[in-house]
Amino acid sequence: MGRSSVMRFLDEGAKVVIADFNVTTGEETVVAATEAGHGESVRFIRTDVAQESDIEAMMQCALDAFGRLDIVFNNAGVGGAIGPLVETTVADWDYTFDVLAKGVFLGIKHAARVMKAQGEGGSIINTASIAGLSGDGGPLVYSAAKAAVISLSQSAAVELGADRIRVNAICPGFIATPLAERHDGEGTRKAFAKAQPWPDYGRGEHIAGAALFLASDDAEFVTGEYLVVDGGLTAAGPELSKKFAGASARFAKVSGITKGSTGEAPELRRL
Ligand SMILES: NC(=O)c1ccc[n+]([C@@H]2O[C@H](COP(=O)([O-])OP(=O)(O)OC[C@H]3O[C@@H](n4cnc5c(N)ncnc54)[C@H](O)[C@@H]3O)[C@@H](O)[C@H]2O)c1
Repeated sequence: MGRSSVMRFLDEGAKVVIADFNVTTGEETVVAATEAGHGESVRFIRTDVAQESDIEAMMQCALDAFGRLDIVFNNAGVGGAIGPLVETTVADWDYTFDVLAKGVFLGIKHAARVMKAQGEGGSIINTASIAGLSGDGGPLVYSAAKAAVISLSQSAAVELGADRIRVNAICPGFIATPLAERHDGEGTRKAFAKAQPWPDYGRGEHIAGAALFLASDDAEFVTGEYLVVDGGLTAAGPELSKKFAGASARFAKVSGITKGSTGEAPELRRL
């Protein structure tokens, strides 16, 4: 998602600082951007988003290289703690929250400081997840941290609105990225393509497009929102038609009106 967003924002004319823990993949993205003709518009700084000094350095890198800061996309993430709640250690909880929740808090805090000082507003975008919207949407601690990202985005939007600093979250569904498809890329992509109503698997470019919209002036009146980008996965809800397959198969063969317990007969026609 990060790499797709870097390439998309560069194509749209932005100047971009890539801030990532992983120097190898970060530098690969710089090479890809340079090969695409954007060498002058991209920088990399090795960053641990859970460290406040690293976040400050990341903002300063943008100011030093490009003179100003208009958009911050807090997108770094890990799967973090997995396994049953009763086996989850405090250390694993802390690591997960440090990267996913504290990292976003620090990203918002220091982006807002710079943007307030500039006095021309800005757009802060935070990657949450559909995992933060319900139980069983992801590992327990990950889900809790992503719910925190949604809440942080809303509270920050309220506090920073007067400064014309917009704060929004994106809730991706299943997106085929290295994080999601570590063991079996092809198998994961096939499974993801079947996971939601939309027939193709989610790609980083889908998230980049959503981030670009939230960063743009077209989203001027959009703040404190979480944008679900999941191919209809959450819209499908409890999927009763799959769980009660017999009833739904019967309903598929008729059309008309039923009148519940009124004592009046349904008016149905066979299809
Ligand atoms: N892939 C999905 O299905 C999915 C779904 C919902 C949300 N998300 C979220 O989307 C975001 C992007 O994930 P992705 O799927 O592109 O995964 P990815 O593994 O391709 O990218 C995540 C990046 O975050 C970096 N990172 C991890 N810890 C860091 C730290 N402490 N400091 C700085 N960088 C760090 C990694 O090095 C990596 O480059 C994450 O926040 C993730 O939780 C992913």
